[in-house]
Amino acid sequence: MDFIEALNWRFACKEFSSKTVPQEDVEHLMEAVRLAPSSYNVQPWHIVVVQDASLLKELLPVSYNQPQVQTTSCLFVFCANTSFENAFEKVLESVKADGTYSEGYEEAVRSTIGKYDEHKFFEYAQRQLYISLGILLSAAALRKIDAGPMEGLDPQGVAKVLGLLVHIVPFASVAIGYRKEDPGRKKSRLSKDVMFEMR
Ligand SMILES: Cc1cc2nc3c(=O)[nH]c(=O)nc-3n(C[C@H](O)[C@H](O)[C@H](O)COP(=O)(O)O)c2cc1C
Repeated sequence: MDFIEALNWRFACKEFSSKTVPQEDVEHLMEAVRLAPSSYNVQPWHIVVVQDASLLKELLPVSYNQPQVQTTSCLFVFCANTSFENAFEKVLESVKADGTYSEGYEEAVRSTIGKYDEHKFFEYAQRQLYISLGILLSAAALRKIDAGPMEGLDPQGVAKVLGLLVHIVPFASVAIGYRKEDPGRKKSRLSKDVMFEMR
């Protein structure tokens, strides 16, 4: 299946069958998400992969009882790491370990993103997270794994259920599995002419 076929095949799945996604595929999707790019490579995220049945049950009411959460056996919870210092400390550790560190890089990040106030850094972190969320949806589709993305959740409620540290703020989740039924609707997107302007 090529990429465009995969994008046409995928849809926002609302209800999954009882078949669970093999652990090897879950790991593959985690690796795809791990490789997501972010501006300045700050990777301001924390992603909780929930497979524990009782935790999934507890997440249901704080996910507005969406059927995706009710029927999935694996939920990726995308959280922003809202602390620049905490996020960047991890990056510095990582780039020093893999040999890609440079003083110029550290200075560039500290003098730009490092200067954001809390609100601006949170917004920045969220923007980066949508890239990794999109990669998860695409990587899943390429393996014919269905996914249900959700912004419909109560961040405080999810944080409480997962016992997250105060600087880790959930804002979206993606349930994965296999569709119970094919989508009962056509894919609807703006046409090429409306969406793009060629110059
Ligand atoms: C970031 C994001 C958040 C979404 N949140 C929800 C949600 O909370 N509940 C839901 O039923 N669908 C949700 N959707 C699904 C969208 O409504 C759906 O992707 C869109 O209508 C396009 O349809 P398709 O994905 O089936 O092609 C979300 C999609 C995205 C990308």
